Parts: sequence; structure tokens; C-alpha cells
Amino acid sequence: MAGFWIDAGTFLLRWLHVVAAIAWIGESFYFVALDRGLKAPRHPLPGLAGESWSVHGGGFYHKQKYLPAPAQLPDDLHWSKWKSYTTWLSGFALLAIVYFASPAVWLVDPRVAALSPTLAVFAALALLLGAWCVYHVLCHLIGFRDRMLGGLVGALVLALCLIATSLFAGRAAFLLVGAALATIMSANVFFVIIPGQKRMVAALEKGETPNPLDGARGKQRSVHNTYFTLPVVFAMLSTHYAAAWSHPHSGWILALFMAAAAAIRQFFVLWHSGRRAWWLPATGVALLAATFAWLAPKAVEAPAPSAPNTIVVADDPAATDITMPSVTGPADDATVLAVLAERCGACHAAQPSLLGFPAKGMIFDSAEQIRTHAASIHQQTVVLKIMPPGNMTRMTEAERELVARWFDQQH
Ligand code: HEC
Repeated sequence: MAGFWIDAGTFLLRWLHVVAAIAWIGESFYFVALDRGLKAPRHPLPGLAGESWSVHGGGFYHKQKYLPAPAQLPDDLHWSKWKSYTTWLSGFALLAIVYFASPAVWLVDPRVAALSPTLAVFAALALLLGAWCVYHVLCHLIGFRDRMLGGLVGALVLALCLIATSLFAGRAAFLLVGAALATIMSANVFFVIIPGQKRMVAALEKGETPNPLDGARGKQRSVHNTYFTLPVVFAMLSTHYAAAWSHPHSGWILALFMAAAAAIRQFFVLWHSGRRAWWLPATGVALLAATFAWLAPKAVEAPAPSAPNTIVVADDPAATDITMPSVTGPADDATVLAVLAERCGACHAAQPSLLGFPAKGMIFDSAEQIRTHAASIHQQTVVLKIMPPGNMTRMTEAERELVARWFDQQH
């Protein structure tokens, strides 16, 4: 029963997280478009820097931007911050409930790095914090040399992709890179943009001129945030795209997807100020095409059938138990069922010992059930090799071959 409520709670949190993120990113897109699309004011006013008109929802809107500020500040000023904070807080809560609560299942993959569960949690937290610290220091050191800073931030993102994928299980690695960038985005709002705006408002209220550096810094950070949006959304959704995170060079794959996303975002940023830089989406699409070509399965020779009575030694040195039924014999339902009961039963049984409920509602307790799910069992254990997660139940290569033969017989 506890399992049911944890599942329900994480579902609600995920829902909140996605809704808050849509609202935040939507607002970010909106303000970038607004800012980029401003025209010189038709009727100049003190402080009026630009204006734009739009029609939406059956009415006409006249938007004006004041720099550094209007002559008189209104007292009902809207601040954009809670969408960002809600997204980060709900995302961090999910990370804690799903990944940090079961690090051995989700964070650690001994084939990637033999971290202890506790160390894995600390390493994940260090990745989030470290990403922000390095980024923040870079911004201070490089100042407003924007191209150089952009290049260095790009290098930081590449480093994050490579570090995360060499420490954590594939799916966690992608998610953590997304979370690290999202942490930078929210920290930009919390530590730089909002405090700067507060100082500007305080100065104006005292009748002083606000420090233009506060405005310039806030603007720089919010421009960075806009380029992070599409890469972060890709990383968050990538848990549904196992081919990417289970690839042997998943760090480079992730970096390529992120580069394509940033190029495509840049196209839209320029579009709003009237420029049509078509080479940008062309570059983005070329990068995506190259990435998918790299991901696509290559034709491999079928493994030679093992001779009967060979002792099967697993590729994983820790997997020494060979008490399983003869996995080199006929691939009948009963043999496969016995293997799956041993390797998957902790999570995919009517009464799983490891979880409160069968993982993804999938139960492998009878021949009929495994036949129903044959295609996805084959996909997860033979093609992608991502089940069992982190190979925690030590499924051997021979057992995967058995599943492959069993599946091929039926199809
Ligand atoms: C430690 C627990 C655990 C073990 C052991 C495990 N699984 Fe899973 N499995 C999960 C979880 C959790 C999910 C749901 C993942 C998700 O939500 O994307 C899952 C999902 C799946 C899916 C559905 C994938 C999809 O996205 O459609 C299949 C198929 C599957 N497992 C097969 C297996 C097989 C076969 C084995 C044994 C060889 C196995 N699993 C062992 C936890 C486990």
C-alpha cells in the first residue's frame, strides 16, 4: 500500500513539475521574443526604450520597455520568479524521491562506475552544485566578453555530459546533466537576476539612478537561460529514449543533442529581431541527423550458438553464480520463465520483493505473461540491455542470448 502512495505522490509531483516548467519556459520565450521585437517608440517619452503591438485573445496589447526605468515606478510590479523556483523545487523533490531514495537501482551502474550508493548520491549533489559554482565564477571572470563566455559555458556543458556519463547509470546521467543546467538557470534567477532587480527598485525608490551593471548582468544571465531551455527539456525527456542514454558514447550523444538544441534556439532568438539565419536550423538538423545515424543499430553477426555442456562464464566478473537452468539448452517458455523469475522477479512479480508494486505494472510470473510482453522484454534485455537496471540482479550474457533465441523462435 505504501508503494501505491509513493507512486501517486511522485506522479502528482511530476505533473506539477511539468506544468511549472511549461509556465517558466513559456514566460522566458515570451520575454525574449518581446525584447527582441521592440521597435523605436512612435511617441517618445522619458526612459521609453522601445515598444511593440500585438493582438491576442480578442484584444490589442501595447507593450513598452523602459530603460533604465520609467519616471514613476508603479506599485503593482509583477516579478517573474515563482515559476522558476517551483520548477526547481518540484524537480529536486522528484530527484530525491526517485533517484536518491534508491541509488542502487537508479544512480549506480557497476558497468559504468563502481560507486557505493551513498557516494553516488553525494556525487550527484556535487555535480549540481559544482556546475553552478564553475559557471558563476566563469561569468565573473569573463564579464561581458560574451563570445568567449559562450564558448566556455559550452565547454562546461560538454564536460558535464562526459563526467556524468562516466559516473552514473545512463538514464540518471542524462537526467543529472539536465538537472545541473536547470540548477544554473534557477540559481541565475535566485542569486543574480532577482537581487539585481531588487537593488534597482530600491535605488529608484530613493530617487537614485540604478547601477546599470545590475541590469546588464540580469540580462546576460537571462540570455544564457534561454539557450539552456531546449537542452534541458531534451535531457529531462531523454529518460524515454533509451537508445541515446544506453549508447557506449552517451556523453557525446547528449552533447550533440544539446548543441543542436541550442543552435535551433538561437535561430528563434534572431528571428524575433527580424533576422532569418537559416544556417542555424540547418546546422541543428545536420547535427541531429549525424547523431541519429550514430545511434542507429548496426547490423551485427548473430552469435554462434554455444555448444551444449559448455560452462557459461558471465562477462561480469561479479556474476559467478551459474546455478541457473541450462541456459544453452532449448529456449522454451519454462527455461525463460525460470531465468526471468530469478533476474526480474524482485521488481516484476505480483509480489515483488524489492518494490511495493510491480515495476511498470509488468509481471513475469507465467508463460502467458512473458509471451504477452515478449517484444518489450526482448527490447529491454537483448537490444538495449537496460534491464535489469544497472544489471543489479547480474543477468548473464548467456541468459540474454537465451531470451534472444526464445524471442526469435516466436517471430
Ligand atoms: C530493480 C528492479 C528491476 C529489475 C530487477 C528489473 N526491472 Fe524491468 N523495470 C523496472 C522499473 C522500475 C521499470 C519502469 C521504468 C520506467 O518507468 O521507465 C521497468 C520497466 C521494464 C520494462 C518496460 C520498459 C518500457 O519502458 O516499456 C520491461 C519490458 C522490463 N522492465 C523488463 C525487465 C526484465 C526482462 C527484467 C529482468 C531481466 C527486468 N525488467 C528487471 C525495474 C526492474
